[in-house]
Amino acid sequence: MEVIRVLLVAVHLLLAGIWFAQIIADWGFSRARQGAEGKAVELPLMMAQVKVLILMGQVGGIGVLLTGFGLLWVNGYGLFNVGGLTPTWLLIKQVGMVIALALVFGLIAPAQRKLAPAFIAAAKGTPRVTPEITQLMTQLVGVTRLVNLIVLLAVLLGVWKPAV
Ligand code: HEM
Repeated sequence: MEVIRVLLVAVHLLLAGIWFAQIIADWGFSRARQGAEGKAVELPLMMAQVKVLILMGQVGGIGVLLTGFGLLWVNGYGLFNVGGLTPTWLLIKQVGMVIALALVFGLIAPAQRKLAPAFIAAAKGTPRVTPEITQLMTQLVGVTRLVNLIVLLAVLLGVWKPAV
């Protein structure tokens, strides 16, 4: 059981790292887009930025959630005190995860759904970033940063495990 726990914690950490590294990926794309404003290359860079951020969020988010469930099972903890006791640090992490999922499904996914056709329309002829794309990108990147803050808090709580 201890081997399974160690493996699950290791994978949980790696996936949390992938999720949090959205910040670095986003930073890289912002730098790549510097000087590309108004040029034809700006749109493909934005399209790649969305693809990479969404992929990292999906792999990291779903992975952290699944390994989190596995860790509940090996440690005998509960989910919101159901099926076992949930220490406060873990309860806060679970609430954080629910908020993160609400942000992803409530704000990030709709922005991504609207961006797909807007990208296709903007790519016709001379690629041009429209005000709608700029607004949706601001929403997507801004909310992603908020989710990354929750991930950071969850990392701190998970490592610290304060006994309150
Ligand atoms: C919100 C994103 C999350 C992040 C970034 C995260 C990150 C972490 C980190 C860094 C640890 C510390 C590992 C260690 O040093 O021992 C940890 C432990 C743990 N996490 Fe998460 N976690 C998240 C969400 C969850 C969720 C949703 C659950 C449960 C459904 C969960 C269950 C656990 C458990 C049970 C441990 C203790 C593992 C042990 O010590 O055996 N985590 N998590």
